[in-house]
Amino acid sequence: MVTPGNRPFFTEESSSDVVLARSGPDADPRVKQIMESVVRHLHAIVKETEPSQAEWMKAIQFLTDTGKLCSEWRQEFILLSDALGVSMLVEAVNNRKPAGATEATVLGPFFVPNSPHYENGANICLDGKGEPLWVSGRVLDMGRRPIAGATLDVWQASPEGFYDVQEPDAQPANNLRGRFTADAEGRFSFRSAYPRHYPIPHDGTVGKMLKSLDRQPNRPAHVHFLVRAPGFRSLTTHLFTPDCPWLRDDAVFGVKESLVAAFRKSSDAARAGALGLPTPFWEVAWDFVLSPE
Ligand code: BEZ
Ligand code: FE
Repeated sequence: MVTPGNRPFFTEESSSDVVLARSGPDADPRVKQIMESVVRHLHAIVKETEPSQAEWMKAIQFLTDTGKLCSEWRQEFILLSDALGVSMLVEAVNNRKPAGATEATVLGPFFVPNSPHYENGANICLDGKGEPLWVSGRVLDMGRRPIAGATLDVWQASPEGFYDVQEPDAQPANNLRGRFTADAEGRFSFRSAYPRHYPIPHDGTVGKMLKSLDRQPNRPAHVHFLVRAPGFRSLTTHLFTPDCPWLRDDAVFGVKESLVAAFRKSSDAARAGALGLPTPFWEVAWDFVLSPE
């Protein structure tokens, strides 16, 4: 039995075992399990890559600078986790869904709780910029029955590729975001603007990392949805446009094939008139299927 009196000394070969043996009997079991894995993987990285002291200091400085960039309105560590594919992996292991349920993807930093609530059919494009887009669909359960009263938070970037919160002086507050409630048949609809790809914030440490790795910072064009209903698992997802050049090179790995939607451009004057839209306009119809809680 290892006691404080006969603990083995640290060696290169036994490094992680020696560190792990220090945990005491009262260790929190889950913290212990996670830290064992962290220590084993960290030690393996050092053994595999053999960083110089200067390189190790560079890594420490990178993390220090990442922390310094974090504030009430910026979370560079989440962005780092996004850009390394870790956010999507955490999402995947937590959202294994039954077949037929709509797949989830990253929330991202631009969700704003309690955005304005609108009647179905309302226009969330407050500055009238961009090509008009009509979004409609239903919220359904796994048996494809309507979920009346489900709420949908929607938000997206402008046709120039910025969220309202990134450009408070250039866009009206709550531009291109809002909340809707599905009707008795589970239906929702709203008018918006055709979205465009945009870069994730890349003026900080994450941007530097992407540059060093010769990676591009863009996310493919998408509309965000957070769909909620009592008794069902909340669904955080996007709809992606099919024609975006970055669809297969999302900087945060958020694209799932099932979420690439048929956005169609229409010049149907009668339909445009009925919806109160000019021609041409874009249209996408989508049913969100929620799994039970
Ligand atoms: C977004 O889609 O809003 C987003 C997601 C992850 C990182 C940055 C932006
Ligand atoms: Fe986004």
